[in-house]
Amino acid sequence: MKSKILLNLSLFALLISSLGTSLHAQTYGKNGMVVSDHHLSSEVGVSILKKGGNAIDAAVATALSLAVTHPEAGNIGGGGFIVFMKADGDVTTFDFREKAPLAASPTMFLDENGEIRDNSNHKGLLSVGVPGTVAGLYQAHQKYGKLPWGELVQPAIDQAKNGFPMSFGLYRAALQVSKRDSSYDILQNFFRGPDGEVVAPGELWKQPALAQTLEAIRDQGRDGFYKGAVAEEIERYMKANGGIITQEDLAKYEAVERKPVKTTFKDFEIFSMPPPSSGGVALIEIMNLMEEADISKIEFNSTAYVHLVAEAMRRAFADRAEFLGDPDFNPEMPIDHLISKDFAKSRFENLDLTQASKSDSSKFGQLYGGDHTTHFSVIDKDGNAISLTYTLENSYGAGMGSDKLGFIFNNEMGDFNPVPGITTSTGQIGSDPNLVAPEKRMLSSMTPTIVAKDHKPYLVIGSPGGRTIINTVFQTVLNVLAYDMRIDRAIEAMKIHHQWLPDRILYERNLLSPDTRDALEAMGHTLIPTTNIGVLMGITYDARLRAYVGAADSASEDGAAKGY
Ligand code: DON
Repeated sequence: MKSKILLNLSLFALLISSLGTSLHAQTYGKNGMVVSDHHLSSEVGVSILKKGGNAIDAAVATALSLAVTHPEAGNIGGGGFIVFMKADGDVTTFDFREKAPLAASPTMFLDENGEIRDNSNHKGLLSVGVPGTVAGLYQAHQKYGKLPWGELVQPAIDQAKNGFPMSFGLYRAALQVSKRDSSYDILQNFFRGPDGEVVAPGELWKQPALAQTLEAIRDQGRDGFYKGAVAEEIERYMKANGGIITQEDLAKYEAVERKPVKTTFKDFEIFSMPPPSSGGVALIEIMNLMEEADISKIEFNSTAYVHLVAEAMRRAFADRAEFLGDPDFNPEMPIDHLISKDFAKSRFENLDLTQASKSDSSKFGQLYGGDHTTHFSVIDKDGNAISLTYTLENSYGAGMGSDKLGFIFNNEMGDFNPVPGITTSTGQIGSDPNLVAPEKRMLSSMTPTIVAKDHKPYLVIGSPGGRTIINTVFQTVLNVLAYDMRIDRAIEAMKIHHQWLPDRILYERNLLSPDTRDALEAMGHTLIPTTNIGVLMGITYDARLRAYVGAADSASEDGAAKGY
């Protein structure tokens, strides 16, 4: 009886903290920090750090917990990237991006007229890539983790089995997705309780099927997902519903440890994700141009600032579209050239500081977009840092999956170039490096990044946002390194986005003055207002306080920084 009262009291405290208070204050930690899209998952990460786990352990537990608490993007049915700075200053990355299935081909989405059939690269089971998340987390843990694997999976199982309180933010999404058409099969009942109603704010939302899948992963490691009963059910479900992923695809999937791409800016070192993400290469191209232009002398948010930043973005996105794809299929990519300081110098020479240049529609660029992805940042007491971004591509991915397994498949195949050879001014890209091929990884924009000072982590940062990710992360890095902003201010400050094609600047509504917009238009820019750009989760180090400082973007309704 007493324990029941205690349980109810602690649940009540949990509800108060999730429903009644702001989660977005800047937070301090002497020994470690986790900042993620759900406060309960940040707490899971911190609980692992407190048990003596390192940043990798905390990241594994946080990622699996987000698959329960933040199902629009937290996942075991998708993929992503880890950038990992070890306490000794060495940096490595893990690529667990989804792969095209063995039965995929460059023209798989086209009808007899060469046009995309029924949005099939984004919707339905052909849009699903072979998931990488479990393999990536497992591989990172095998190599660098400290605590037993099972202890890291258990908190997610507990959250799925016992439930956690529905927040207002999640409830809003739950109402929306439960009404989607029935081809989004798993979403129909995803958020409903035993009474058939969408679970209301403050009530416990339980996911028993997902708990069972997570138990297989706890007990058998990666094989619990890629072999045995889960893999059999994935193949059965795919076959029954027109999908092409087989047990062979699953058994063959491997995550890859890769070298980061890096550059310097003032006395900082910047490490980010190499291809198959375009994020790191583009971020570095833009940062190098900022150094060349001596951006610190240009006032933040001025006309000159927006112009320079947009022109740099335009160029980096053109290169992204022309050159980048899966490195295992494109061994000749000119990455060293693109991220070199000499290249930035030559680029700066033909950048007009008074006039907008024009994106050439016969050349390169891509649409921005996608709905959701999630990033989290972790640091432990020894100074190991993790920057992890993973995704299902759109919010709730393909919106499809087996009720028996309880997780949602990604729709990441939409990140491949869908029509070979066709590049349009509206932003569809047809260049070779990112065409579909069996077992190839689709190009990503995810940009998990770590900035170091004196070989120690100084800023751990990343964001969702499709192609806007690159520019969101870039501007936040710039805000901290060039404009000395506090982490929370750097995250909230006005962001713009330019991606070569379509040729326009998106800016956050109400955050750019009309005078500045007029001046930019007079220089030849087109400006389009949009809602917030990015959902950043960041950690910095305050040397004077000898403490980590974390902040979650206020665009994340349930997100929070938790330090200890
Ligand atoms: O990997 C990529 O670049 C995209 N699939 C990410 C999608 C995304 O960020 C959507 N989120 N807002």
